[in-house]
Amino acid sequence: MTDFKELIANEIYDEALGLEIEEIKSMIERPADEAMGDYAFPCFRLAKALRKAPQQIAEDIAEAAYKSDIFEKVENVNAYVNFFIDRAVFAGDVVREISDKGSQYGRSDLGKDKMVLVEYSSPNIAKPFHIGHIRSTVIGNALYKLYDACGYDTLRINYLGDYGTQFGKMIVAYRKWGCEEELANEPIKALLGYYTRFHKEAEKDPSLEDEARETVARLERGAEEETELWKKFRELSLSEFNRVYAMLGIEFDSYKGESFYSDKMPRFLQELKDKGLLIESQGAQIVDLEDCGLGAAMITKSDGSSLYVTRDIAAAVYRKETYDFYKSIYVVASQQNLHFRQWKKVLELMGYEWEKDCIHVPFGLVSLSDGDDIKTMSTREGKVVFLEDVLNTAVSKTADIMREKKVEGVDIDEVSREVGIGAVIFQELSNNRIKDYVFSWDKVLNFDGETGPYVQYTHARASSVLRNADEADISAISGSGLSSGSIPNSASDSDSGSQAGFGANIDFSYLKGDSAYTLAKLLYRVPEVVVEAAEKYEPSMLTRHLVDIAQAFNKFYHDEHILVDDEKERRTKLALVAAARTVIANCLGLLGISAPERM
Ligand code: ARG
Repeated sequence: MTDFKELIANEIYDEALGLEIEEIKSMIERPADEAMGDYAFPCFRLAKALRKAPQQIAEDIAEAAYKSDIFEKVENVNAYVNFFIDRAVFAGDVVREISDKGSQYGRSDLGKDKMVLVEYSSPNIAKPFHIGHIRSTVIGNALYKLYDACGYDTLRINYLGDYGTQFGKMIVAYRKWGCEEELANEPIKALLGYYTRFHKEAEKDPSLEDEARETVARLERGAEEETELWKKFRELSLSEFNRVYAMLGIEFDSYKGESFYSDKMPRFLQELKDKGLLIESQGAQIVDLEDCGLGAAMITKSDGSSLYVTRDIAAAVYRKETYDFYKSIYVVASQQNLHFRQWKKVLELMGYEWEKDCIHVPFGLVSLSDGDDIKTMSTREGKVVFLEDVLNTAVSKTADIMREKKVEGVDIDEVSREVGIGAVIFQELSNNRIKDYVFSWDKVLNFDGETGPYVQYTHARASSVLRNADEADISAISGSGLSSGSIPNSASDSDSGSQAGFGANIDFSYLKGDSAYTLAKLLYRVPEVVVEAAEKYEPSMLTRHLVDIAQAFNKFYHDEHILVDDEKERRTKLALVAAARTVIANCLGLLGISAPERM
């Protein structure tokens, strides 16, 4: 694809300006107002070197003869030079590129040979996997996909909360009141029940607390019976979590949780001591971070057992030593900001200069709007909404909507799953991640709003236009990158004009209309947006761009008659439809959402 900024920079370049091409390129802007051209070059900085008024410089540049015929016009407004790219050239460039790259469009090899770890989801075992967990799970998965698309090697880590005193309590409770069958049927609900009961009974009989402490100590020593039970709780919890991950289409490469690091503490305690960082405070060991306004980081409790931050230190070092990461990303709620700041500070004080490559990516809270009919369950802490219930509700509500709309010719079971779950994921990735938001069905499932269903519907609409086109048209626009099957009804692509791309079949000047041009411009920007979203750890940048693409496509569909009689015009417009469809599917894929052909 043509790098238009680079091309313009080359045109502008002149030794007298005293600027390198790269510098010129970085000064080129993209005006928000289309009347100001596609690209604009501000001349203020040149005034000194050229001893001329910026406005005069802009005028001179605009009047220079240009070698390239890609410009429709070049004009100056005050101290700016505005460049208007020839729309046919631009559209042709973009459409050809997308057709060539197909499912690879939007991907790059920016991160070649660099390793990025993404830690996300990380629920605590034997605890409900609830609506709050969706954020880390879905944002983390999208970040993994974005980094993967930028060519990085990646590792997806689920840092399970599988360590702590609660397991002592749970084991005691299970032995006293547990039931094998109940546990097997609904492990999380059963374990939570035992845990709750433990607290109730312990109020009457405090000796239970002692028993739990002894049990957890035995577990930490690796006593066989306790370890077996803990393993069982862990496996049963994981199989429940995996059910939800499967619904969301999410996978992990590593499930090394907190327990994996629990026996790796002595090395770090020694190191902290040697570096003079550890001090004793009421029997516990701490690192004093008062000077940097971060309080005290608790390293061991008075009974010598390790703490959350200590295990995170061990995990970070293990990951650096094992994977030599370029970046290690932690997708964890902003409630844990203090924890992560303390942890990074301790790593820094320990002299691990790579702590700067460890990045906490925080996000805000999700809450439910009143009157939402999601099943809730009471626990000690209040009401819990299981994520699995939310996803199932989304699917069944979507199926209802599809039946109401009398959608025909689709497998409602399958498509309502793709759309319902896609809707929940999309909503999750729609807002700036740091913002708190209120979950509401009306917003999530609105087929006309800025939602997942709307974007998926746009994809299905584009697919339907292509399905309704003649086979000969589809063959004619099947560029070299389009394998058979990537356009809905493309027959065999053996003789489908694949080597030539478009050639004489097409005339891109049919895409000079405003709505076609706006769409082409948005499609062009996708590879940049993918990189930006990854670098800012902000998948919502891609989500919002995708909504813009869907809206631009629908405007084009509305403004222009696509299946016209004129063969060239028809084929050219179909080529843009095919390109938009490819890009929408690719972007949905990067967000972890499927793109049904019909809905
Ligand atoms: N298990 C923790 C929780 O549910 C989240 C773990 C976050 N990751 C970390 N490396 N501390 O709150």
